[in-house]
Order: sequence, then C-alpha cells, then structure tokens
Amino acid sequence: MQKVLILGAQGMLGHDLLEVFSKKYTVTGLDIEDFDITRQGATRKTIKEFSPDVVINAAGYTDVDGCEKKINKAFAVNGQGTKNVAKGCCDSGSKLIYLSTDYIFDGTKGSPYREDDPPNPLSIYGESKLMGERYIEEILDDYLIVRTQWLYGKHGRNFVETILALAEERDHIEVVHDQQGSPTYTADLSRAIAALVAKDVRGTFHVSNSGSCSWYDFAVEILRLANSAQVEIMPISSTVLNRPAKRPYYSILNCQRLERETGFEMRSWQMALQEYFQRREQ
Ligand SMILES: NC(=O)c1ccc[n+]([C@@H]2O[C@H](COP(=O)([O-])OP(=O)(O)OC[C@H]3O[C@@H](n4cnc5c(N)ncnc54)[C@H](OP(=O)(O)O)[C@@H]3O)[C@@H](O)[C@H]2O)c1
Repeated sequence: MQKVLILGAQGMLGHDLLEVFSKKYTVTGLDIEDFDITRQGATRKTIKEFSPDVVINAAGYTDVDGCEKKINKAFAVNGQGTKNVAKGCCDSGSKLIYLSTDYIFDGTKGSPYREDDPPNPLSIYGESKLMGERYIEEILDDYLIVRTQWLYGKHGRNFVETILALAEERDHIEVVHDQQGSPTYTADLSRAIAALVAKDVRGTFHVSNSGSCSWYDFAVEILRLANSAQVEIMPISSTVLNRPAKRPYYSILNCQRLERETGFEMRSWQMALQEYFQRREQ
C-alpha cells in the first residue's frame, strides 16, 4: 500500500485529509509539535526517514490579516517552509501536494481564474503562498499545486461557525457583499485531492465547490439552514470593514482542469453546506 505523509494534520483541512486518505493509503499525520517546517534540517530528515510516496503539505501560516503584521513569519512558513518540504520530497523521491490559494490573484479579471492566469497577490499571505508555489516549481517535477478558497470544515474555526456564534449573540450581523468566491467544504476538497493522486496527474489545479456567491450571500444561506430567521444580515462594503489585508473582489476559480483530467466533479457550495450542517452535530 502506498505511504502518504500529511503535514498540518491537526489543521482544519488536515483532519479531513487524514480521514479520506486513510481509506486507501498508509497514512501518517504530523503537525508543528512533531516538527516545524521552517527548520530545514528537521524537515528534510523527517521526510527522508518516512520516505513516503506522497507528501501533502497542508501546514501553513493561515491568518490572512496576521500575515500583514508578522511578515517574516508569513514568508518563513509559507515560503521557506514549503521550500524545505520540497527539498525533502526531492531527497526521498516523493510526490508533493501543496495547498495554495485564490489570494494569489488580484481579482480584477472579471471571469473565473484559470490555472495559467497571471498571479498578482494583494496581500502578504497571497505573496507568501505564491513564493511557496515558485519554490516547488523550481525544485520538483512531480508535484501538485492545489489552489482553493473560502474553506470551512468540521475541525477548525471557520466562517460558518463564526456566523452561527454571532447569531446567538446579536439581532443583526454585518457581512461584506462585494467579494465573490466559492465556499468550499474541506471534506469535498479532500476527496478531490484523493482523485488527483489516484490519477497521478501533475501541475497546478483549481479546486472549489461549484457556483459562487458573496460572503453576504453565504451568511444568508448559513442562517437559512440554521433556521435563524430572526437575525438580520446587513450588507457592508470591504472599504467599511477595512481589514488589514486586502482581498480580491472576485476570485472565483475555474475548476475545469480537475474535471477534465480526473472526472471528479465538485458539487455546488449549497449542497456541500447542507451536508456540513447534517454532520457538524455528529
Ligand atoms: N482556510 C482557507 O480558507 C484556505 C483557503 C485557501 C488555501 N488554504 C490553504 O490550505 C491549507 C490548510 O488550511 P487550513 O485552513 O486547514 O489551515 P489551518 O487550520 O490553520 O491548519 C494549518 C496547520 O499547520 C500548522 N502549522 C503552522 N505553522 C507550522 C509550521 N511552521 N510547521 C508545521 N506546521 C505548522 C498549524 O499549527 P498551529 O495551528 O499550531 O499554527 C495548523 O495545524 C493551508 O496551506 C492554507 O494556506 C486555506
């Protein structure tokens, strides 16, 4: 049976990757308490010792606004850390799968982004994730860069849980209406990554649930499913919210390459969200 090493296994996506990959592979999950990917020696040594067929790097510094303040940490973890993992994969002949983001795009294209569209990140987080991509392309031939967006899942703090918690405390919630994307369920993303690994394809792929909405629309659907009709969602603009990191206004991903090369179809974000609601209490 093929061996898979998952880094960032305690994270939101890492948990679901462990569950999905354990069905078909011999899986080991590690996180920062096992080793820090910014430490080159430890990273290369650990990967070499495990000698996995596949490494999935779901570890990262994922606090998008935090990255604007802790710039060195953002580049150390998402850039240099990814380089260390790529070098480890090079030493051990492992395929590397790296999770990247729609935030490498500036959101001005006006139609769904394809894998070969030119990046232009607006934030430190986006820049640091793009740096990770560049190292991988330089160091490895056998890699997958999986760009995704707007993740929520059972094992992490996420937008769905934030809205549900706010709805317990308030009679109205302000949510931005001028950023468009595709909410993506980590369980679905994990299954898509498994399909990519099974087909042994290479290169960059966009993966998100299908359809798109604004954060405002997403919040409205969350409260509809939670039967919280008494809470009012009020649309506000990103300028009013004024968060430290700039986000793209439009970062919908074109996922046709995934479908074409694996036959795997991502269901609609609304269907995925319904399943999340069914499973979150279990
Ligand atoms: N969340 C999203 O909407 C989104 C969108 C697009 C792409 N992505 C990418 O998808 C991946 C998974 O995201 P996620 O939301 O599941 O992230 P997450 O929940 O924050 O998980 C990341 C994991 O990596 C660990 N980690 C942080 N720094 C590390 C280091 N130096 N060495 C080893 N492990 C380290 C974290 O530990 P601590 O918790 O202790 O820091 C955490 O367990 C990330 O690469 C992210 O950039 C996420």
